[in-house]
Amino acid sequence: MSDSPQTDNKPAGAPPSADQFSYITHLQLDTLLSAMKPITPHPEEHIFLTTHHALEIWFKHVIYDLKRIIPMLEADRLAEANWLLKRLGEIMRLADGHWTVLETLSSPDFHEFRPYLTGASGMQSRQFREVEVICGLCELGGENYVASVRKAWPGMIEAYPVTLRQAFFNVINRSGTSLLEIYDKRWQHPQLFALAENAMELDRRFQSWRFNHILMVRRQIGMRTKGTGGTFGRDYLSATMGYLFFPELWELRHDIAALHGGEIAKP
Ligand code: HEM
Repeated sequence: MSDSPQTDNKPAGAPPSADQFSYITHLQLDTLLSAMKPITPHPEEHIFLTTHHALEIWFKHVIYDLKRIIPMLEADRLAEANWLLKRLGEIMRLADGHWTVLETLSSPDFHEFRPYLTGASGMQSRQFREVEVICGLCELGGENYVASVRKAWPGMIEAYPVTLRQAFFNVINRSGTSLLEIYDKRWQHPQLFALAENAMELDRRFQSWRFNHILMVRRQIGMRTKGTGGTFGRDYLSATMGYLFFPELWELRHDIAALHGGEIAKP
């Protein structure tokens, strides 16, 4: 696998003069911060809004980098793809940390403003679903999952003819070796090994994000209270814990164990 030379990303033209430009101009802070509009006078609604906004900003960046990683993988630019994929694992680790902050919103405080959220639910997050779709969940999530994405966001699935999952397996297939061989002879295939471990890390962190969201939900409303999106946590959210982007990489652990004489139970 060879990496093509770095593309020239330098901006055209001269930088703006310092008196025309500032921190506020660059970050568009007036626009960004004006989006924080509590709908109740409850002071604890603020942390609820902040957590949602922070996570949506991170989702935006995750989508941005995923759209860069897929063509890099398709061109076998593994060093660059690995660098960014490792970052996405770190971002999801950070995203996962938001749940314990949100747990400092007490359950009674939350219930005091919750009725005003009416039908607003994280389930309606287009960006969250887009991350799942780009990563390749449509190939694994089942017919109902695909149908619900098509219904809520027509065209989203078609916008990603090659998903992260497909691009990953395209690289493995082109390499002419197998995942087990890559792990066993990892220092003969360092970039492929790093790719598999970075994909695993993204999957692991995403799973942790889902799990800790559920624990937070359980702490706030319990698993038998109907969500604002109309589902019961014990049914809908619990089922999403079965979603992985790279189940093959998890399953591979059995093959590695077996290679070294481990005793493996039947699935
Ligand atoms: C007190 C805070 C929260 C509670 C009680 C809560 C509760 C729930 C519940 C019950 C669901 C299932 C759908 C439903 O019936 O509504 C859900 C889904 C979801 N929530 Fe939250 N949530 C909270 C905060 C957040 C935050 C801050 C985010 C950040 C973006 C978020 C993102 C999501 C997403 C993406 C889903 C869809 C998950 C999927 O389809 O796999 N939630 N939430």
